[in-house]
Amino acid sequence: LPLCRCLISKAEVQGFIERCMIAVGTKPHHARSLAEVLVEGDHRGHYSHGLNRMDMYVKDIQTKICEKDGEPVVEKETAATALVDGKNLLGPVVGNFCMNLAIKKAKDVGIGWVVARGSNHYGIAGYYAMQALKENMIGMSFTNTSPLVVPTRGKECTLGTNPISVAAPGENNDSFVLDMATSAVALGKVELHERRGDPIPEGWGCDAQGKLSTDPKKVLSGGGLVPIGGSEATGGYKGYGLGMMVEVFCGILAGAQYSNNIRTWKVTDRVANLGQCFVAINPQNFAPGFNQRMSDLMSIQRGMEPADPDRPVLAAGDPERTNMKKCDEMGGIPYHINVVKYMNECAEKVGVSPLLPCDNLISN
Ligand SMILES: NC(=O)c1ccc[n+]([C@@H]2O[C@H](COP(=O)([O-])OP(=O)(O)OC[C@H]3O[C@@H](n4cnc5c(N)ncnc54)[C@H](O)[C@@H]3O)[C@@H](O)[C@H]2O)c1
Repeated sequence: LPLCRCLISKAEVQGFIERCMIAVGTKPHHARSLAEVLVEGDHRGHYSHGLNRMDMYVKDIQTKICEKDGEPVVEKETAATALVDGKNLLGPVVGNFCMNLAIKKAKDVGIGWVVARGSNHYGIAGYYAMQALKENMIGMSFTNTSPLVVPTRGKECTLGTNPISVAAPGENNDSFVLDMATSAVALGKVELHERRGDPIPEGWGCDAQGKLSTDPKKVLSGGGLVPIGGSEATGGYKGYGLGMMVEVFCGILAGAQYSNNIRTWKVTDRVANLGQCFVAINPQNFAPGFNQRMSDLMSIQRGMEPADPDRPVLAAGDPERTNMKKCDEMGGIPYHINVVKYMNECAEKVGVSPLLPCDNLISN
C-alpha cells in the first residue's frame, strides 16, 4: 500500500504551531521562534525535530516546567565571549538570543563565543549555525541533551545524543552544513524498527550489559544508543570523545546540568537546565578568498567519480537541500497522516482552530 501523506504548506504549519503555543500562554514572539525552528527541521527532512515534537513543548509550557515569560539575560561578557542565563525559556528563544549575540561579537572582533545555561530543547542544531551564513560567517552550535548514549566499554547511558553543527559559506549561496548527533543514530530510528518488528543494524545500540545488539527492544529497555562509530573496534570511542567535547562546550563551560545529571529523556519532573554553545567566526579576519576555497573544497568532493554511478558524492548539507527542493516543488511539506491527526487532536485539547488541513493527500 502506498504511504498516505498529507501535504501542508510551511506557512500553515508555522501558523498552527504558533496558535497552539500561544493558546497555552506562550508569548507570540517566543511561539514564532519555536515554530520557525520546527518548520525548518521538517523542511530539511528531519521529522524527528519538527511538528512531531510540538506536543512536548506544549506540555513544557502547560506544566510550567518551562518559563513562558521573560527574556534571556547576559551574565558575564567580554568583547568576544558571553555567558547567558536562558532563564528556563524555550530552547529556540535562548538559541536565537545567543546566536545573534555571537554574530554581533564576530562582526566587532572576529569571533563570538556564547554559552548558555538554563536552556531547554532547541530543535535542530543546524538552525543556529546557519544564521551565521546570512552574514557570510562560519557558525557553530552544540547542545547537551538527556542521557541516551552508552560510552565505549560502559553499560549505562551517561551522555546525550549531543549534536554538533558547523556551517560555512561558499560562493553563490552554497554552503557546507554539518549537523549531526554524536550517537550513531537517533533514538527515533530505533523506535521505528521496534514498531515494525525489524532488527536494527549492528552498531546502533547496545543491551543492558553494554553488548552491541540488533534487537531494538533490548536497546530501548535498559540498553542505549552507542556513539558514532559503534563498537571500540570500529572507532566508537571517537564518537564518544565528540559527545564529551560537546559537554565541555555546553554543560561544563556554562555551569549547566551535564552528563547523567541531566533529567531523563521525556521525564519532565524538574527543569532541564541544558547547556548550549553558539559560535560565530568571521572569515574576513583570516586569509582572503574563504568563500572561493570553500566552494572549491566542496567541488572536489562532489565532482569526483562516485563508487556507484547512481549515488554522487555529496557535501554535508546536500541531502537536506535536496529535501527542501522537493518540498518546494510540491508546494509544502509531506506529513504522515497519523502525525497530522495526532497534532490536530493535541490542538483541539488546547482549544485551537483552525486545525491543520487534512485534504491535500498525496501518495508516495
Ligand atoms: N536538540 C537535540 O537535542 C538534538 C539531539 C540530536 C540530534 N538533533 C538534530 O537531529 C538532526 C538529525 O541528526 P542526525 O545525526 O540523525 O543527522 P543525519 O545522520 O541525517 O545527517 C548528519 C549530517 O550528515 C550529512 N550527510 C548525510 N548524508 C551524507 C552523505 N551521503 N554525504 C555527506 N554528508 C551527508 C547531513 O547533511 C548532515 O549534516 C540534526 O538536525 C540534529 O541537530 C538534535
